[in-house]
Amino acid sequence: MLNKLKGTAVGELFRDACKLGEENLKLQKDIVVGWSRLWPGLSGRVQTTSTPFAEVRGVWSETVQNLAHKQRELVNKQFEFARKTLDLAFGVAGNELTPPVKAELPATPEAAEKSPPVSEPAIEPQVRGASPVESGRPYISGTQNIVNKIAVVTGAASGIGEAVSRELAHRGAKAVMLVDRSDQVVALANAINEEEGRTVAIGQVGDTTDAAFRKRVFNEAVERYGIVSICVPAAGITRDALSVRIDKETGKADLYPVETFRQVTEVNLIAPIYWAIEMIARIAEDRRERGLKRWEPEEKIQGAIVFLGSVSSQGNKGQISYAVAKAGLEGAAATLMKEAIFHGVRCGVIHPGFTDTPMAKALGSDFLEKYVLPYTQLRRLIRPEEIADAICFMISNSAVSGELWADAGWHPPA
Ligand SMILES: NC(=O)c1ccc[n+]([C@@H]2O[C@H](COP(=O)([O-])OP(=O)(O)OC[C@H]3O[C@@H](n4cnc5c(N)ncnc54)[C@H](O)[C@@H]3O)[C@@H](O)[C@H]2O)c1
Repeated sequence: MLNKLKGTAVGELFRDACKLGEENLKLQKDIVVGWSRLWPGLSGRVQTTSTPFAEVRGVWSETVQNLAHKQRELVNKQFEFARKTLDLAFGVAGNELTPPVKAELPATPEAAEKSPPVSEPAIEPQVRGASPVESGRPYISGTQNIVNKIAVVTGAASGIGEAVSRELAHRGAKAVMLVDRSDQVVALANAINEEEGRTVAIGQVGDTTDAAFRKRVFNEAVERYGIVSICVPAAGITRDALSVRIDKETGKADLYPVETFRQVTEVNLIAPIYWAIEMIARIAEDRRERGLKRWEPEEKIQGAIVFLGSVSSQGNKGQISYAVAKAGLEGAAATLMKEAIFHGVRCGVIHPGFTDTPMAKALGSDFLEKYVLPYTQLRRLIRPEEIADAICFMISNSAVSGELWADAGWHPPA
């Protein structure tokens, strides 16, 4: 195996690591030899020293500090090695790893006694696929702000909502509330729990436009698991028709029905906003109860919301209500990003292109092949898992705000 790695970048890193290991061993030997010289009892060898005790303490303090500093350098180098190896092997974003040795060493043994023990760096167990055990392992890209968190996903019985729910569970969320008006969501929750080997998914059947249902879901999440800090309100519907259509028989114009317009905006715009602000409200109350005011970065991110926009937010023939709702989410996210960061909550919008779900498939294969696929760069539908991955990226990476276009390079025909 090692022969195979010879001459490769990973092989080089292994060679360096071995060297570091040897150096560390030698250093530890030096420490023991050094100590046994100053404190004969350590090695069991009888030695005599005429140095006064106070002087020995001074030399001891200096020697130990020097050695400890050297050892810290070596540990940091070993950490660097591990980071680079992970980078190469798994494409991990190395800069998300926290160096293990941070604290300044105390100047004297007396100071060492007074100062608190060197604390572990603020890292959480963040390993994709692993159950959220306290492993103490550093961040692995794509799971920050997800491991051990409690999430609510609406529209979870199908398509993108289903894929996001699976992905959040898989990336170590403590609990994911799967919300949908279809009772399929309960079977899906059971399937996810079986796959993950733990109870992480909880099916919740109801209508997202029902405020009492929304509050029940959040109450149950809090009672069973704790404060919800991830919200992906993905439930959505389409009711497509031209805004004005001439009746061929009568020659009269039909207007897009206002009741349908209200229904689409109720489900696709108002409900997602209220699911999001329900979460913000709970986080705000909880922080208030704990005596916290304006969020400070040391608290780490308290919550993340990702709305499901659409390429149609830019306008799409036959989608007046849908396009309006999706464009409205852009305004909502931009406003919430500004307001909710007071409580440490981030907010963004993802704009998926045509994704392989029942919603897109309802357009019919003829339509998709004629009007959609030729106008995408990928010339295929996007997989729901690809959108789920992009959503998890938006949740994980705290530097990301605003909007992400995951549209497979789609540009509508003129
Ligand atoms: N599929 C695409 O091409 C595409 C593209 C851009 C954006 N989107 C958006 O992504 C989101 C998910 O879409 P999808 O393609 O997975 O759709 P989908 O039809 O596969 O799933 C939508 C789910 O939402 C649920 N739902 C609808 N109204 C509800 C309500 N009032 N209460 C509770 N549940 C409700 C449905 O039961 C369904 O399970 C939607 O907001 C959609 O607008 C989809």
